[in-house]
Amino acid sequence: MTLKEKYADYFRIGTSINRWTMKTHGNLISEQFNYLTCENEMKYSRVCSEEGVYCFDAADKIVEFAKSNKMLIHGHTFVWHNQTPQSIFTKYPTREELLACVRHHMELVGKRYRDITDSWDVVNEAIDDKYGGFLRDTKYLQIIGEDYLDCMFRMAKEVLPDQQLFYNDYNESVPEKLDNILKLVCGMKERGVPIDGIGLQSHHNIYTPDIDTIRRSLEAYANTGLRLRITELDVSVFRFEDHSNPGKPSSELMKKQAKYYGQLFKAYREYREVIDSVTLWGVCDHHSWLNYFPVNNRANWPLLFDKEGNPKEAFYAVMDF
Ligand code: GLA
Repeated sequence: MTLKEKYADYFRIGTSINRWTMKTHGNLISEQFNYLTCENEMKYSRVCSEEGVYCFDAADKIVEFAKSNKMLIHGHTFVWHNQTPQSIFTKYPTREELLACVRHHMELVGKRYRDITDSWDVVNEAIDDKYGGFLRDTKYLQIIGEDYLDCMFRMAKEVLPDQQLFYNDYNESVPEKLDNILKLVCGMKERGVPIDGIGLQSHHNIYTPDIDTIRRSLEAYANTGLRLRITELDVSVFRFEDHSNPGKPSSELMKKQAKYYGQLFKAYREYREVIDSVTLWGVCDHHSWLNYFPVNNRANWPLLFDKEGNPKEAFYAVMDF
């Protein structure tokens, strides 16, 4: 049985895809998964150059793959401080100009893909990581002002009325960050801003956050009444500050990882009423951003399939219920 079959009554099982994995692991993707996110190809700076020239070739190829496999795509992402042409902030230095520029971007990209996407991350990672802070200090905040998320969601709704609109962030189980994400999205809801859900990136490692912490955060997010998505799941075998490089995974590490994944999916199943999809950030261990971050060129083994695309112990743990 495959992941998507096993979870058919729970939630969609997604993966991020890029123009290489689409070719190297196309079969595995279409067999196991039923939802896609472009790893990079729909990001602002991937479709639009610093000169403001749009090119959709790479994203279009993934859309073709999705169409031929009858899969939908979650759009990622419109407004983010990273991977965005920095020239927009100098070319459009006032609130009105910058908002008009992003509206134009949403119209070009969002409408082009509206048949294949059902939702978009309207804003990614707007909360500050510093304790005691709230919104991250970005050009969007500086130029548009503190209500820039409200503006972006309202605009997205006008441009793409049939898409579900998400706020997406990481470290979403860290208590201070969780409180700030809740403050943000609940404030938006109260002000009548059209937000449908919260994307929990879920870049975890086998030590942290522990499953009780994750369960508590799922409960808190579920209580907002918004839809939830697990948007970028992977489980590193290293603590963030651990820069060791063992070269191959020990069976003890793989067992720990399998246990973690098993418990995690058990918690997700308990929240099936509010979780629409669980998306892994990559298809197999061969291609993961964690092979380059935070240590460049260090093998990590964060996913459910190994380098060859074979199911790992973690896969069987997720399937064991
Ligand atoms: C964030 C972004 C993703 C991706 C990862 C790292 O989580 O939302 O698009 O860039 O970082 O790969």
